[in-house]
Parts: sequence; C-alpha cells; structure tokens
Amino acid sequence: MVERRFSRIQTELPGPKSAAVFATKTKYVAAPLETYAPFIVKQSEGAIIEDLDGNRFIDFTGGWGCLALGQRNERVVRALLDQIDGYLHTDFTAVPYAPFIELAEVLCEHTAIDGDLKAAFFNSGAEAVENAVKIARASTKRKAVLVFENAFHGRTLLAMTMTHKAKPYKYGFGPFAPDVYRLPYPYEYRKNVTADDIEQALLSLVDPSEVAVMVVEPMIGEGGFLVPPVWFLPALRNLADKYGFVLAFDEVQSGIGRTGKFFAFEHFDVQPDLVCVAKSLGSGLPLSGIVGKASIMDAPIASAIGGTYAGNPLACRAAIEVIRGIDEENLLERATQIGDRLKVRFAELAERFDAIGDIRGLGAMVGIELVRDRGTKEPAKELTGRIAAEALRNGAIFPTAGLLGNVLRVLVSLVITDEQIDEGMSILAEAFEKHAG
Ligand SMILES: Cc1ncc(COP(=O)(O)O)c(C=O)c1O
Repeated sequence: MVERRFSRIQTELPGPKSAAVFATKTKYVAAPLETYAPFIVKQSEGAIIEDLDGNRFIDFTGGWGCLALGQRNERVVRALLDQIDGYLHTDFTAVPYAPFIELAEVLCEHTAIDGDLKAAFFNSGAEAVENAVKIARASTKRKAVLVFENAFHGRTLLAMTMTHKAKPYKYGFGPFAPDVYRLPYPYEYRKNVTADDIEQALLSLVDPSEVAVMVVEPMIGEGGFLVPPVWFLPALRNLADKYGFVLAFDEVQSGIGRTGKFFAFEHFDVQPDLVCVAKSLGSGLPLSGIVGKASIMDAPIASAIGGTYAGNPLACRAAIEVIRGIDEENLLERATQIGDRLKVRFAELAERFDAIGDIRGLGAMVGIELVRDRGTKEPAKELTGRIAAEALRNGAIFPTAGLLGNVLRVLVSLVITDEQIDEGMSILAEAFEKHAG
C-alpha cells in the first residue's frame, strides 16, 4: 500500500461534483476536446492538484510541460498582480510596453548562441514554429522546410503539416501545406540512423538550394522522448552550413530548464540559428517566442510578423519571473536531480517488470518505453494506457507519448519535492503490479 501524504482519493472518479460539470461539458463543449483526467480541477499548488470533490493528485504532466516553476508560483503571482494594477493589453505594436522588451533582453542573454541575438514573442508553440519558418524564408528567399520523423510542432496548418503523427493530429484535416519534407530521426532503441542517411534522404527529396529551414526538436517530446546521439545535432549544423539554410531548434517542450540546461541543445556541441520556445516560458500563461541570430530575425519587412495578443504584458511579466526563478532557485540543478531520482526509480521498476523496454531522457525530461516483449520490442500501447489510467485513478497523473503510443513520460514541475516524486512513483509501481505483474 502506498503511504499517502500528498495524494488522496476519497470518491469514485469522477466524483459527483466533477460528474455534474462533465455532463455540461458533453452537452456544450465540442467533442474533439477530449480530456485526460477523469475529474475537474478546483485548485492547484506546486505539483499538487485538488479536484472539485476533494481528491488530490500528484501531477507529473505539469500542464503538459508548462509549469517549470509549479502551479501559482509566488513570484509569478506577485508579478501578475502588479501588472494587473498597471495595464492588461495594448498590442505591443500599437503601444509598446517594457516587459516585452525586458523579456527579449533576458531571453537573449540566456541563449547559448554566439553573436548578436534578438527575440520576438507570440502566443502558442505552433505560432512560434510558423513564424520561425516565415523568418527563415524571408532571410534565405527560399521555400522548402525540412522536418523529422516523430516530430510534433503544433496544430495550425503549417505546424500540423510539420508534425509527423497522423492520428489524431492530421486525420481528416488535409490538404496540407506544400514544400515540407521529412527526414529520419535517430531512435536508438529501435532504429539506427547515420548522418549519411539523413543527407541522402534530404538530397532525394528536394534540391538543397531550395531549402529555407530545417526545424528539429533537440530532444523529441510528444513523439516519445527520444534523445539523439551526440553526433546528430552537429551533423545537422554541418548540413545547414553546407547548403546555406537556417537551422531552427524547436525547444517548445524541452527548453527553459527542463533538461537541466536552459536549452536542451546545450547538452550537445552545437548552436542553432533560431530557437522556438513556449510552454515553461509563460508558467501557464499563453506565451511563445523565437530567439536567434539578429541578422536572421531582422529579415522580414517591417510589420511582417506580430499578432494582436503576441507577447501580452501579463505573460511577459510571468516569463521574466520564470527565468529569474530558474536562476535564483537553482532549478537547472534541481531538474538534473529530479531526472536522476526518476531514473533510479524507473530502473527499480524495470528490474521487476519486463514491460519496461527502455528508460531515457535528459534532466527532468525522462520517459519509459513499454513493450510486450523485450526481445521483439513489440510496442505495448494498450498496456501503457491501462497503467497510466490506473495511476491516475490512484492519485498520480502521468502523461503518455510516442508515435507508437507506448511511452510514459514525465513533464513535472521543477519545484516538486523528493517526497512527492516518491509517492507518485509508488502509485505508478502499484499500477505496474496490477497490470504488468
Ligand atoms: C516540440 C513542440 N513544438 C510545438 C508545440 C506546439 O505548441 P502549442 O500547443 O503551444 O501550439 C508543442 C506542443 O506540445 C511541442 O511539444
């Protein structure tokens, strides 16, 4: 039995109050907006979520990787209240405000790319990715876009086209954007890829003189928490230099401290031209951005990029606090500690359960891949879903991932305590005992 200090399940799920809200949801909210948790949140603090019926959950989703500083972090809340006292919205390009500019400065200072850098802010990760393509096209005067297997870049037309997985993200939504070409991404557990394979694939798909940009996740998130081998990103840098296209890293999920470095690419000996950020940057407020080489960022004509709410003042104030908080509260170090602890606990589980085929990750961005057989590596999608659902019903919310749907991943807040991690992992262990024992 799990000794509970943080989680508490006191009703069936959903409890009666949540069930009443779900009934209204079914009637009024569009059906494709399927929800993962079988309860409605009432309040949340740090990494703990309480529902309308008083049940408490340890949250390993972190709002799908947005809450590096935890839910309602004190310094973020203070800055937001102060901002509410001043002004809520002007549109930066109508009446500019200092938090947008201050955030640009802080983000550029935290980005490990040599030379002059500039930044621009938007609302969602997809918007950042689309704008990176626009900026690269303006800069190179070329059109084609290179992306990778297992990629997730968002749900707008171009970002959806750039995303790999058909169901649920693309199914029924074509025709897709033209001039997007997909290259192999190394998946060390399943598939060997060499630098030559990537170059040959590129050359067979498109003439490189037509390529504007290559967009790649330095560690794949949604597509299954894939950590590339050390040669991979530097090899892409070589291709970008050889053929004269822009190299953009999508760090929407992996960036802003989650991997134990400010950006995941810092684990590798490489520098991109542009980096897309979102999720953890805004601490739950809608905010994304691009930071990169000034000469490229300045390429589009005046007023060519922007958006009514892009880089809204509340989100920028939150983001400045997120970056200060990461520095002042040593959260990069904490991300590494969290990852080490998770890997030890996952390794203990792997000794007991053959269903765990692989454990991988960088810093706190750790996942496990579930298989029906360690020899054949047949993916165990259904089992992964059952284990995640069981843990959820018992008070620990773990997201799943992967093109094959068989990865359990952790996108936890970096302010989670060791005791909370251990309790969540014990709940997960019970779910393994029940379904994989
Ligand atoms: C790597 C990556 N890029 C882009 C996106 C899209 O971000 P958003 O959902 O904010 O549009 C995501 C979202 O999960 C992501 O993980």
